[in-house]
Amino acid sequence: MCTLYFAGYDVHTQGVSMLKVAVIVGSTREGRFGGTVAAWIERHLAKRDDMEADVVDLATTPLPTVLPEFGKPPSDPEALSQLAAVSPRLAAADAFVVVTPEYNRSFPASLKNAIDWHNQEWHAKPIGFVSYGGFSGGTRAVEQLRLVFGELHAVTIRDGVGFNGVWGAFGPDGEVTDPSSDAAATKMLDQLAWWAETLREARAARPYAA
Ligand SMILES: Cc1cc2nc3c(=O)[nH]c(=O)nc-3n(C[C@H](O)[C@H](O)[C@H](O)COP(=O)(O)O)c2cc1C
Repeated sequence: MCTLYFAGYDVHTQGVSMLKVAVIVGSTREGRFGGTVAAWIERHLAKRDDMEADVVDLATTPLPTVLPEFGKPPSDPEALSQLAAVSPRLAAADAFVVVTPEYNRSFPASLKNAIDWHNQEWHAKPIGFVSYGGFSGGTRAVEQLRLVFGELHAVTIRDGVGFNGVWGAFGPDGEVTDPSSDAAATKMLDQLAWWAETLREARAARPYAA
């Protein structure tokens, strides 16, 4: 059976459909800590009845690093197939959670590459952040991402979650050692849900003109 949606409304279940949240795992480093952080926020998403997560892990779905000519698709068939594994999922998302470490006061090149490959996929959609690092909790990475996503017509969520000294912030079970991080995740996801639902309705009512 084909499911019909209008502005997020599922006419078969007569209810509002779940918000699709793409969780982008930005670190591709060998031996990365990012998997632990991403798994934790995925568990938060799995507990919610208003959101469904699609994890876009840039380590397992790498993107090409050579951009094509303006207005043309990539000439390399391998590049096309790598994009096909990621781009439709970003396009389908109502919202994003970006899980980013801080590298040299910024965010990793793998994440910038994924951002630059796309454009309309980000438009008029909200983005929440889970960041981590050594001293800074990844806050400098996030502040720079806010500038980048502004260029792409996205809305960044004010409240986020940041872990400094990330190696000590999680127990052996993968859960956070400080429960205030769980509270921060809930707050960020609640704000993300508000924007995701509001912008989904708005995009359906009036296509966003960039
Ligand atoms: C190249 C590199 C640069 C880093 N620069 C910073 C930094 O500027 N600020 C900070 O707080 N942590 C910094 N760190 C520490 C990382 O944020 C920390 O190791 C984190 O675990 C990296 O994420 P990952 O393990 O998922 O790759 C850096 C780590 C690397 C590998």
